[in-house]
Amino acid sequence: PERPNSMGFDLGHQPTLDAIDAARDPFRSHRWQAGPLLAEEASPEAEEAVVNPADPHDVPGSVAPASAADAELSLARAQPWQAPAAERAAVLNRAADLYEAHYGELFALLHREAGKTLPDAVAELREAVDFLRYYAANIPDAASAGIFTCISPWNFPLAIFSGQIAAALATGNAVLAKPAPQTPLIAHRAVQLLHEAGVPRDALQLLPGGPAVGAALTSDPRVSGVAFTGSTATAQKIRAAMAANMRPGTPLIAETGGLNAMIVDSTALPEQAVQAVIESAFQSAGQRCSALRCLYLQEDIAEDVLTMLKGAMDALNLGNPWALSTDSGPVIDEAARKIITDHVAGARAEGRVLKELALPPEGTFVAPTLIKVAGIGALEREIFGPVLHVATFRSNELDQVIAAINATGYGLTFGLQTRIDDRVQHVTEAVHAGNIYVNRNQIGAIVGSQPFGGEGLSGTGPKAGGPNYMARFCAPDRQQAAA
Ligand code: NAD
Ligand code: ALA
Repeated sequence: PERPNSMGFDLGHQPTLDAIDAARDPFRSHRWQAGPLLAEEASPEAEEAVVNPADPHDVPGSVAPASAADAELSLARAQPWQAPAAERAAVLNRAADLYEAHYGELFALLHREAGKTLPDAVAELREAVDFLRYYAANIPDAASAGIFTCISPWNFPLAIFSGQIAAALATGNAVLAKPAPQTPLIAHRAVQLLHEAGVPRDALQLLPGGPAVGAALTSDPRVSGVAFTGSTATAQKIRAAMAANMRPGTPLIAETGGLNAMIVDSTALPEQAVQAVIESAFQSAGQRCSALRCLYLQEDIAEDVLTMLKGAMDALNLGNPWALSTDSGPVIDEAARKIITDHVAGARAEGRVLKELALPPEGTFVAPTLIKVAGIGALEREIFGPVLHVATFRSNELDQVIAAINATGYGLTFGLQTRIDDRVQHVTEAVHAGNIYVNRNQIGAIVGSQPFGGEGLSGTGPKAGGPNYMARFCAPDRQQAAA
C-alpha cells in the first residue's frame, strides 16, 4: 500500500545537524526513571542504576524491574484492544508522529543507554516509525483478541521493541512488553508515547526486567502468542517453556541470531567490497544480527582486498556515540565485552589476528578486529561484536564455501560481491539465508521494501516489516482473513 517511510535526517546538511544538536542537548545529563507501566499500580523490585556503556561516569537513569506479582497482575488485567481497525491505525500513526516529534530525547537515550552513534540512532528511529506506519497501513479487519508477550533485545531497543508491539496491537491483541534488561529507559519512554497516542493502558503494559520476568510471561496459558527477538538459545528455551505450559499451536514468532557470510570473488570491485565489508562488520560495533561475521575472499584478490580493508579500518573512529566524528561506539556491557575479547584472545594466542585497532581508555569498547579462519565452520557461535573472520578460497572451491555456509544451520543474511551475472543467480539460489544482498552492504533492511528475517536457526519467520507478518499475530481462525 501507499506508505510514506520516515524521511530521517540528512547528516550532511549543517542546519539539520544544528537542529539535532539543539533537540538533544537538553538531555545530555538528564536522568530518566523506568519501571513497570501496568493497568494498575505495580509493586516493582528495588531500583537499579543504568550506566552509559561508553562512559562509566554517566548514569542516564534508573529502573525498577517488574516483580513476579507485577507479571501476574499484568496477565490478569490485560485487555485485547478491540477498537475498530481505523482507530487502531490512527493511534499507531499518531504514535509514529510522537516518536518523530521527540527525536532529540530519543537520540539522547539511544546514545547514552544503548551506545548508538548518531547515524545508528537516526536509522533506528526511522525503522521504529516505519514499523508503526507500515503495520497501521496494513491493519487487518479481523481483530485477534488475544494476549501477546513481546520480548526484545537491547541492540534495537526502540525499533524492534516498537515493531513487535505495533504488529500485536494492530491485530487487536493486548501486549505484555518485556524489553531487554540493558535498555529499559528507552522502552519506558516509548510506551509512554504509545499511551499518549491513545493505546489503552490495559492493552499495552510494560514489564522491565530480565529472564525471570520473560520466563513468567512465556509460560502462562493465558498468553496466546509470543513475539521474541534475541539469541537462538533463548528462543529454544522459550519454545520448550511454551510447549510445556501452553495450548499446542500457540504461535512463537522468533527472530534470532546468525553466522552471516559474504563471498567476494575475483571479479568484484575491491573498493565497493571493502566499503560493504566495513559497514557490514563494524557499523553498530558489529552488534547487529545481520552483521557480517565471516568474509570469504577468492585467493586471487585476497591480498589486495585485505590491504585496503586494513587501511579502511585504520580510518575508523571509536569513541563517544554522541559525537558526529564517531564511527563505532561501545559494546553494550562488560559481560558482552568479556565474551568478545576472550574470543579475540584465543585467536591472538594462535597467531590468527590480522589487524586490531587501539581502544578508548574507558567504556566497554572492543577494538574492531580481523581474524583469520579456515572457514565459517571454525566459528562455533555468533560473536556479537566488531570482529570479522576472514577465509580464502580457490576458484574451484565456490560450492564448498556455499556448503560450509549452509552447514552452520543458520540463515539470516548473506552478501555476494561479483560482476558475473550467472554467478549471482547460482550463489543466491544455493545459499540458505533470509536476506541476501548483492554488491552492497548486508545490514539495514528497510521496512516494507526489504522484509527482514531468517531461516533455520535464525528464526521462524514470517519476516518483520513484510506482508505476512501480522497474520501470525491473529488467532488461527482469523489468520486467513488477515493474510
Ligand atoms: P538474549 O536472547 O540474551 O535476550 C533477548 C531477550 O530475551 C531479553 O529481553 C532477555 O531478557 C530475554 N530472555 C532471556 N532469557 C529468557 C527466558 N528464559 N525467557 C524469556 N525471555 C528471556 O539476546 P540479546 O543478547 O538481548 O540480543 C542479542 C541476540 O539477538 C543476538 O543473538 C542477535 O543475533 C539477536 N537478534 C536477532 C535479530 C533478528 O531480527 N533476527 C535482531 C536483533 C538481535
Ligand atoms: N533489521 C536490521 C538490519 O537489517 C537487523 O540490520
